[in-house]
Amino acid sequence: MRVLGIETSCDETGIAIYDSEQGLMSHVLYSQIPLHADYGGVVPELASRDHIRKTLPLIQQALKEANCGAQSIDGVAYTAGPGLAGALLVGAAIGRSLALAWDKPALAVHHMEGHLLAPMLEETPPEFPFLALLVSGGHTQIVRVDGIGQYQLLGESIDDAAGEAFDKTAKLMGLAYPGGPLLAKLATQGDAKKYAFPRPMTDRPGLDFSFSGLKTAAANVIAAEGTSEQVQANIAASFQQAVVDTLVIKCKRALVETRLKRLVVAGGVSANTSLREQLAALMASMKGQVFYPRKDFCTDNGAMIAYAGWQRLKAGQAQDLTIGVTPRWPMDQLPPL
Ligand code: KG4
Ligand code: ZN
Repeated sequence: MRVLGIETSCDETGIAIYDSEQGLMSHVLYSQIPLHADYGGVVPELASRDHIRKTLPLIQQALKEANCGAQSIDGVAYTAGPGLAGALLVGAAIGRSLALAWDKPALAVHHMEGHLLAPMLEETPPEFPFLALLVSGGHTQIVRVDGIGQYQLLGESIDDAAGEAFDKTAKLMGLAYPGGPLLAKLATQGDAKKYAFPRPMTDRPGLDFSFSGLKTAAANVIAAEGTSEQVQANIAASFQQAVVDTLVIKCKRALVETRLKRLVVAGGVSANTSLREQLAALMASMKGQVFYPRKDFCTDNGAMIAYAGWQRLKAGQAQDLTIGVTPRWPMDQLPPL
C-alpha cells in the first residue's frame, strides 16, 4: 500500500510518500519561517494562505521525486489536529478531495501520533511497549505506549510546552523566531552552572510539567544582567540545563514507575543535542534504550504523517466525505488498531 502524507498543522508544509514495500519514497518540506519571522511568531492567517499556495506544487514534487504517478497512490493521510484550524483545513481539504478524485480512502492523522511514530522510520525502530517523551512547540507529554492507538497519558505540561519555553525565552533574549534552535546554539558557548534556574515540579510527586515560571526566572536574570554576548550564552546554557534536567528527572520517574526499558523521544525539542545526550546517559545508567527520529523528522514533516496514516489505512480505517479538523484533540481518544 502506498500513502501520500500531508502535514499543514502549523508553519511547515510537509509532503511525503510511504510505501509498504519500499518504505519512505520521498519527502519534501517547505518552511514558512521567513514569512513569520518579522512578526516574532506564527501568524495563523498568513500560515493558511501560504499552505494553500504550496501544498499542490509540493505534492507534485513529492510524486516526481518518488518517481511515481498519482494513480499509484492507494490512500491519502492528512494532519487533522491538533494545530491551527485554518492551516489544518488546507491540508484536510486538499487531502480529502484528492482521495475522492482518485477514488481512494483518506485518513485524518493526529499530529502527535505522527511525532510519536516518527522513530519507526529509522533503521532500528522501537518495539512496543515503550515510554514516550513528546516535546514540541505545543506539547510536553509523557505517554505509555502499548501499541498504535494504545496511549496512556501519564503526565503533561500544565502551562507552556518545553518548545514554547525555549521560544519565549529566546525572544526575551532578542533572538529571532523560532528561538529554540538558536538558544540551543548559543548555549554551547555558555556556562550551564552560572545561573540557578528552578527545575519546576520536580520536588513533588507526579509526572506533570510547568515551564512558564522558568521563562519568568530567565526574564528576571536578563533584566538584571544585561545582554552582553557572554551573559546571553550563560543564560542560554543555564536555561537549557534546567529544561533538560526537568525532562530527565520526570522520564526517570516514569521509567521506574512503569518498569519500561525503552524510551522514545520525539517532537521538535528532541532535536536538542544536550537533551539527547543526557537522556542517552540516563538510559545507559538504567540499562535501557533510547530511540529518536533523525533530526529532520524531529520537527514537523510529512514523512511522519504518511507513516502514521499508512499504519491506520492498511488496518482499514478511513474517513467519510466530511472534511473536518480537530484543533484540540487528546491523543488518548484515538482508536486502537
Ligand atoms: O514539533 P515541532 O516542529 O512543532 C510542533 O508540533 O510544535 O516543534 C517545534 C518546536 C519549537 O518550539 C522549536 O523552538 C523547538 O521545537 N526546537 C528546539 C530545537 N529544535 C526545535 N528546541 C530546542 N532545541 C532545539 N535544537
Ligand atoms: Zn509538531
